[in-house]
Amino acid sequence: MPKLVVVTRDGSERAVEGDVGLSVMEVIRENGFDELLALCGGCCSCATCHVHVDEEWLGNLPKMSEDENDLLDSSDHRNGQSRLSCQIPFTQDLDGLRVTIAPED
Ligand code: FES
Repeated sequence: MPKLVVVTRDGSERAVEGDVGLSVMEVIRENGFDELLALCGGCCSCATCHVHVDEEWLGNLPKMSEDENDLLDSSDHRNGQSRLSCQIPFTQDLDGLRVTIAPED
């Protein structure tokens, strides 16, 4: 199973394994990180699954949809590394992906 490295808001870091076919949001939630609220359940309508993706991985991710882009605009913590984790399918190619849970809005 591919690994995902998750950095929480207090700066601690943990590597977890995730099933291919889940979204990155689902992998984070299934591993017990409850600070990622993901309130809409992955429907791309809440932005509470906001993460900052390590720079070197940005090019490996699927392109951002207009909806995701608009939603991220509603966050005060958007930067060039921002993505909604529910919009990133977890794949073998993403083995080692490192994301930081964005501060709460
Ligand atoms: S879980 Fe709501 S936008 Fe991702």
